[in-house]
Amino acid sequence: MPVKNRFAELLPEITAWRRDFHQHPELLFDVHRTAGKVAGLCRSFGCDEVVEGIGRTGVVAVIKGRSDSQGRVIGLRADMDALPIIEQTGVPYASQTPGKMHACGHDGHTAMLLGAAKYLAETRNFDGTVICIFQPAEEGGGGGREMVKDGMLSRWGVQEVYGMHNMPGIPVGHFAIRPGAMMAAADQFEIVVTGKGGHAAKPHECVDTTVVSAHIIVALQTVASRNVDPLKQIVVSVCTVETDSTAHNVIPQVVKMKGTVRTMDHQVQDFVEARIAQIVEGTALALGARAEVHYQRGYPVTINTPENTGFAADVARKVSGVVDSDTPPLMGAEDFSFMLNERPGAYIFLGNGDTAMVHHPAYNFDDTAIPFGSSWYAEMAESRMPAA
Ligand code: NI
Repeated sequence: MPVKNRFAELLPEITAWRRDFHQHPELLFDVHRTAGKVAGLCRSFGCDEVVEGIGRTGVVAVIKGRSDSQGRVIGLRADMDALPIIEQTGVPYASQTPGKMHACGHDGHTAMLLGAAKYLAETRNFDGTVICIFQPAEEGGGGGREMVKDGMLSRWGVQEVYGMHNMPGIPVGHFAIRPGAMMAAADQFEIVVTGKGGHAAKPHECVDTTVVSAHIIVALQTVASRNVDPLKQIVVSVCTVETDSTAHNVIPQVVKMKGTVRTMDHQVQDFVEARIAQIVEGTALALGARAEVHYQRGYPVTINTPENTGFAADVARKVSGVVDSDTPPLMGAEDFSFMLNERPGAYIFLGNGDTAMVHHPAYNFDDTAIPFGSSWYAEMAESRMPAA
């Protein structure tokens, strides 16, 4: 098919962009070099409008089709940020910034969307407008939320949004998607247990916060195992425990714990937030201590709209021939969810083959996936808004 042929031609150029981004990873909103290069390339492609600084450091590139008989506007999104990881891939184009690494393949996503932008600006074979969205700070900063807050979707009249993420474990060139909840909501909590510290040889004169914390950690396991319907997906993990004592013979006065909650629907999320507070406060009370829970909501559930999901799967089938359209949801989270909360659309996985998992120091994006990803973005525009 023609789209794929063009991307076979463009592959060396798109690969060069990808490896350049890989060599120069930037974190969170601090993606100035990457965003500058993205904007410069989009201008060189002849995009109709290129705006920087959306959601602090996001870039939006507007491409108008040959006609605009129905006023259709779709958004195609990629993320640009890297992770604070020490790279261990050993590739010649490895990170030149120690402690920063493109370990989630956002270098590949950005390059693939740039490839699609170049092709779409060349061909304009659609009826409507494509908004290419390059967002910062997917890895914990809420860059998608900031771009939405900045009015991006209404400013350009975006009607639907589509995002893509590479996925190790799925063969290169294969796609995977599902309607409904695809990625979890990720919330975090901090628990502060206060007792009465003292000499470890006189426990009866103390309120031992380590023992109270141990009971709390065990009791929290019952949220998933005893409180939530086993057919619903949920994770409650206590991930750090910190006391204010460093000695082997001092009972600490205060213990702090931090953890994460992953849920797939709003009712479970509301329930779990309330249940954690009950368990923590009740357990502490029973053991003579005090405990407070600070619960903070993070990225919402990523929910694919069924109609748009079917469409995205059809386009993926056209591009690659292999689509799992009922892939299991993941308990990871994704801040494309903020865009999907505002507009119908879908988020799809593109196979990265048998590589290390994303966020691992040996992970690397597979450049042979580029023609599939770029083709999917471009074909989404052409099929969703066929030329009049
Ligand atoms: Ni990622």
